[in-house]
Amino acid sequence: MAKPPLNERISKANADLIDKTQSSQAWQSIFRPGSIFRKGYTDSPRNRSYVIMNSVLYHLHPVKVKRHAVKVSYTLCLGGLSFFLFILLTVTGIFLMFFYRPTAAQAWDDIYTLQSSVTFGLLVRNMHRWAAHLMVLSVFLHMARVFYHGAYKAPREFNWVIGVILLMQTLLLSFTGYLLPWDQLALWAVTVGTNMMGFTPVFGDKVRFVLLGGVEIGTDTLLRWYVLHVLLLPFVTVIFMAIHFWRVRKDGGISGPL
Ligand code: HEM
Repeated sequence: MAKPPLNERISKANADLIDKTQSSQAWQSIFRPGSIFRKGYTDSPRNRSYVIMNSVLYHLHPVKVKRHAVKVSYTLCLGGLSFFLFILLTVTGIFLMFFYRPTAAQAWDDIYTLQSSVTFGLLVRNMHRWAAHLMVLSVFLHMARVFYHGAYKAPREFNWVIGVILLMQTLLLSFTGYLLPWDQLALWAVTVGTNMMGFTPVFGDKVRFVLLGGVEIGTDTLLRWYVLHVLLLPFVTVIFMAIHFWRVRKDGGISGPL
């Protein structure tokens, strides 16, 4: 019998190779059921559900979503934007940490060197600062959007409270970061802020002392606010964000017409 033409033999060899690879245990352990890379994938409702359930990236979304909920014009993606800015702030913040020492003697010089001598230093510093301003704005607008749609009502009232805590966290992150450049603007902003806290009834002096790490603003204040800014507040914020996203799912997805 005559041999099939070369191109047919090559395509058969390719098909055999793909089949063998897709049938291997290694391949099947990476691509879970429902993946388009699995052998014999078909576009069925069952496989579409599998894609959502089995993917790290997609499993934040429910298997079924209401049509209005995926419209950008409903949420304006403001919650998602706030989250994106938080991630951007984390990445750029880690970059800044390589060049910054939180002491009164070094902080300002480090910032100056960062933006004058470090490659991309000025760009990353500005990205961090702008993202911080934008995050305050986007979280506030997200809150306004949620209020406008009445999503603070049952069954989402608990998530509204989590949201208020997230707003506070965002403002605190913004304010603690403001001190770190250790310039005149930062110094006086924090002096005014902590003086105001000093008027807290009964415990005013104690509150001010704790915030300053002493009786007046200095290197101890800087260290205190630095640890709050790069560690404690982001850590607590991540926990509350996780609860916030989980509650959106558990409260039946985002709000909308019944
Ligand atoms: C760091 C800040 C925040 C992040 C990253 C965040 C993220 C999100 C995301 C991704 C959603 C899904 C729908 C959407 O994108 O709009 C959402 C929904 C929601 N958020 Fe936030 N949020 C934050 C702050 C707040 C604040 C300040 C409030 C209110 C005080 C709030 C209350 C809610 C409520 C009630 C929902 C459900 C909305 C609905 O069902 O329509 N969130 N949030």
